[in-house]
Amino acid sequence: MNKKTVGIIGVGNVGSTLAFTLATKNMCSTLLLKDVRENFVQAMALDISQATNASKSKTITKACLNNEEFKDCDVIVITAGVARRPGMSRDDLLLTNAKIMTSVITQIIPNNPNAIIIVVSNPLDAMVYTALKASNWSRNKIIGMAGILDSARMAHFIFEKLGYGQGQIEASVMGGHGDDMVPLPDFSTVAGVRLSEVLSKEDIDDIVYKTKNGGAQIVKLLETGSAYYAPAYSTSLMIEAILEDKKEIYPCAVMLDGEYGYEDIVSGVPVMLGANGVEKIIELNLKNQQKEEFSKSIASVKELINILKEKL
Ligand code: 2OP
Repeated sequence: MNKKTVGIIGVGNVGSTLAFTLATKNMCSTLLLKDVRENFVQAMALDISQATNASKSKTITKACLNNEEFKDCDVIVITAGVARRPGMSRDDLLLTNAKIMTSVITQIIPNNPNAIIIVVSNPLDAMVYTALKASNWSRNKIIGMAGILDSARMAHFIFEKLGYGQGQIEASVMGGHGDDMVPLPDFSTVAGVRLSEVLSKEDIDDIVYKTKNGGAQIVKLLETGSAYYAPAYSTSLMIEAILEDKKEIYPCAVMLDGEYGYEDIVSGVPVMLGANGVEKIIELNLKNQQKEEFSKSIASVKELINILKEKL
């Protein structure tokens, strides 16, 4: 097994599901868990360690009760923050979660100089921006998880329409992880066949609509909190790509520095993930309408960042 350490800050539903996935799949040698709820994080570490023994995996899971114990991580996932409740958008969480993010970053970076940080807290793009500014780290090292989740949701809705092709659907979503995300049917396929060849325009429009509302649909049904299996699994794919230097392409939220014509703004774009985090940003050749939608999504994130600059 590799000699890698993964740290998770915030073991709510996403953090604990992710921890369970990593530990039982033997994806790292050490798993460090941290949460403001001390008894809770110890319970999670025990429960997951016991599941790990049942699964015959060798990952060692520990609860960290202070910053000194949370150290030498190769990858750190931050899920800390308050979650959405029904009727709330991801943006409603902005100021509270930005304060939490800044405090978490300040606490963890001294003991984890070589980590790649994956941000999961919402509103996602603004939280990646906050983490980058609070750490002063280079943009390849702080990445947001959203595009894999949004693409998985789109793939699910494509399957719902088609009734076949599960596991063969490649769906593509760009832009911010908000109501203005940009599902890209033109870049989505079923076993290599373009969507427009197997679905009507009405069906494709409905898939786009459902994808944008995929998170809210689950928030509404759950009544407390938000989705966690798909977010956790999507995060595990990013961790695997980084720990194993896989150089795989995934849509992730990153700071743009001229790509797609934008700078000093975080948005979801296809990137190559490897040992150094984001090793390459892929620039898709977008049509005019897709460019317009992307620009609208960028403008929404910009609004949040302006609020942060003013109020934080
Ligand atoms: C989701 O989309 C809450 O952002 C999370 O499910």
